[in-house]
Amino acid sequence: MTSAEKPILLDVNGLTVSFATDRGMVRAVRDVSFSVREGEILSIVGESGSGKSVTLLSLLGLHDRKTTRVEGMVSFRGRGILDLSPGELRSIRGREIGLISQDPMTALNPVYTIGWQIAEQIRAHEKISARAARKRAVELLGEVGLSNPQEAVDRYPHQLSGGMRQRAVIAMALSCNPALLVADEPTTALDVTVQAQVLDLLLRLRKDFGSAIILITHDMGVVSEVADRVAVMYAGRIVERGETEAMFASPLHPYSWGLMGSIPPLTGPRLARLKSIPGMPPTPDRIGEGCGFAPRCAFARSACLERPPLRKIGTQAALCILEEPERAALRRTVLSAEEFA
Ligand SMILES: Nc1ncnc2c1ncn2[C@@H]1O[C@H](COP(=O)(O)OP(=O)(O)OP(=O)(O)O)[C@@H](O)[C@H]1O
Ligand SMILES: [Mg+2]
Repeated sequence: MTSAEKPILLDVNGLTVSFATDRGMVRAVRDVSFSVREGEILSIVGESGSGKSVTLLSLLGLHDRKTTRVEGMVSFRGRGILDLSPGELRSIRGREIGLISQDPMTALNPVYTIGWQIAEQIRAHEKISARAARKRAVELLGEVGLSNPQEAVDRYPHQLSGGMRQRAVIAMALSCNPALLVADEPTTALDVTVQAQVLDLLLRLRKDFGSAIILITHDMGVVSEVADRVAVMYAGRIVERGETEAMFASPLHPYSWGLMGSIPPLTGPRLARLKSIPGMPPTPDRIGEGCGFAPRCAFARSACLERPPLRKIGTQAALCILEEPERAALRRTVLSAEEFA
């Protein structure tokens, strides 16, 4: 069975997240829809502040319920999860969905040693003795690259460096062999050799247990290497999604041209490096109905002030007014093949 035929594990439909601020409700994530099939790796990419972490944390129920409004539909294995109680969600997160958050302290409890926390997590879904769970915790800490796991297991989170804490969180997320692993920049705090080890561990999880992975990363090389599908976020929306190979070979959205064009694709013509896009992404309180990228887009027109239409080509879909063949012609002006020659 190819991954495109496997059953859908996570289905997100029209997810919209708003925060209460002193300037009223501000929408940070708008009408986001995507799905993840069993065993599939979906990469979410996009500039800082585009809403990647907010999307994942809110669909896992990790938002502050007092100040955050989450709308839309999220189902995991066919069961709606947005309306579950915090306790019910916690038990799904511990057993079936592992989270490696961008901020390791979200996942760690400061008052327990990391070994205790990993062992508890294992024992929450497996009937093994405290001793055996501790032994597994030490093994896992060794696997994620902690040099002295025997000693690290008895440390409290604050006694570890940032990189060590990140590895402890990864060990915890891996401990239950989750059906879905949500990894928000899991390797950013780590040095390059450990980054490669951690990536290998994630891939092994998929190989050995068929786990699906949502991977947020800024490393487009990693995306092109490991992801089956890619979703590009800009200003709170998914502006383009599709299968990795197609996305790198011929990205549809002008914003993706910059992202995808910055590394050579796996197949197809080599694309030139894009000069960095001038300007800054808008903050959530400045995003209207129109295309959020329009102020930075060299090809924007008055129609871009209105909500952009969804255009589909093959496995790809993009929120952009451009249509073929004009799109392809404009893309060539940005990503000219000659520059690489
Ligand atoms: N609790 C909050 N209250 C108000 N605004 C928030 C809150 N959390 C996040 N935001 C805003 O929502 C937007 C999206 O943030 P998010 O953390 O999802 O970005 P990101 O894409 O993960 O960026 P990065 O790549 O830097 O991690 C940002 O503008 C951020 O300031
Ligand atoms: Mg983030």
